[in-house]
Amino acid sequence: MTHQILVTGGAGYIGSHAVHHLIDHGYQPVVLDDFSTGRHEAIPEGTPLYEGNVGDPHLLATVFSEQNITAVMHFAGSIVVPESVTNPGKYYANNTGNTLMLLTAMAKAGVSRLVFSSTAAVYGNPDAKFIPIVEDNPTEPINPYGMSKLMSERMIADMTTAHDMSAVVLRYFNVAGADMKGRVGQSTPDATHLIKIATQVLTGQRDGMSIFGTDYDTPDGTCIRDYIHIDDLIAAHLLALDHLIKGGENLTLNCGYGHGFSVKEVITAINALGEGEINVTLADRRDGDPARLIADSSACRNRLGWTPRHDDLTTIVRSALAWEKSRQ
Ligand code: UFG
Repeated sequence: MTHQILVTGGAGYIGSHAVHHLIDHGYQPVVLDDFSTGRHEAIPEGTPLYEGNVGDPHLLATVFSEQNITAVMHFAGSIVVPESVTNPGKYYANNTGNTLMLLTAMAKAGVSRLVFSSTAAVYGNPDAKFIPIVEDNPTEPINPYGMSKLMSERMIADMTTAHDMSAVVLRYFNVAGADMKGRVGQSTPDATHLIKIATQVLTGQRDGMSIFGTDYDTPDGTCIRDYIHIDDLIAAHLLALDHLIKGGENLTLNCGYGHGFSVKEVITAINALGEGEINVTLADRRDGDPARLIADSSACRNRLGWTPRHDDLTTIVRSALAWEKSRQ
């Protein structure tokens, strides 16, 4: 039997990778997307598609009555941290409110399995003694984006308990790169992410870029992040799905490699690809950036049997650049 998997946000960066990989693994994805940031071209032809908002209960009821959904992968949401500070209502509506609508519709329709996209932003600005971060470290978000996801996690815990559902919550660290088969990549308009911006500079779409903050308490003064290749992140989703289909219990897992790179190290790795030198300006700190975020990913490895295949900064930046060049 082919399992049908509802992929909310399936036309976006991470969701579209999930759609392709689900097909690769014999699942039938069903996409729900409002195309606020997603692209039609990112979805393979023939994929069942519902165009609209995941907070629309009528649309959700239609999807669940027309399709025989085994599980939901919920990617749809808003993800720009600084925007969440200036427009928190958008984040609590699109992330927290819509997740509640989805959970409610799932409970009503008897769809019982959920893989949820959460974020390292739930940890806030962790004290150095909490690096690398384990899942039961304090969750103290420092921006509405992180809080909107943490509130969703809490709702998921309560709703799955009350309605005989199960969920795997994946807390993403810094997702980057593109599908190793070159089918999809990051096409989000007005991207704010470091590797995306740097590859846009290299391909002439931007004149230059800034390094935000050089006075952090890190070896070279710039922020350290745990960059994870998108294909490894999606592999964790497929394992999470398998876990739930086999009747596995609720899990909350970090998705990162367990080591980090500074902003300067990332730029050095991109320059070393030999495609040109990035024009950088040293700038002030960006609001809300923690100095260091590094995952302890042992739980993901141990509980799901996750083994990363692309844990290499050069591979990550090369795949991001290849995608950027393919679009020109
Ligand atoms: N940076 C620059 N210049 C840029 C862009 C980014 O110096 O032009 C720096 C940032 O200041 C930060 C680092 O590069 O120090 C990484 O920034 P990103 O914007 O790429 O990613 P963030 O760490 O801010 O956030 C990302 C996701 C969040 C998620 C978080 C978890 O956007 O959704 O990772 O680690 F919560």
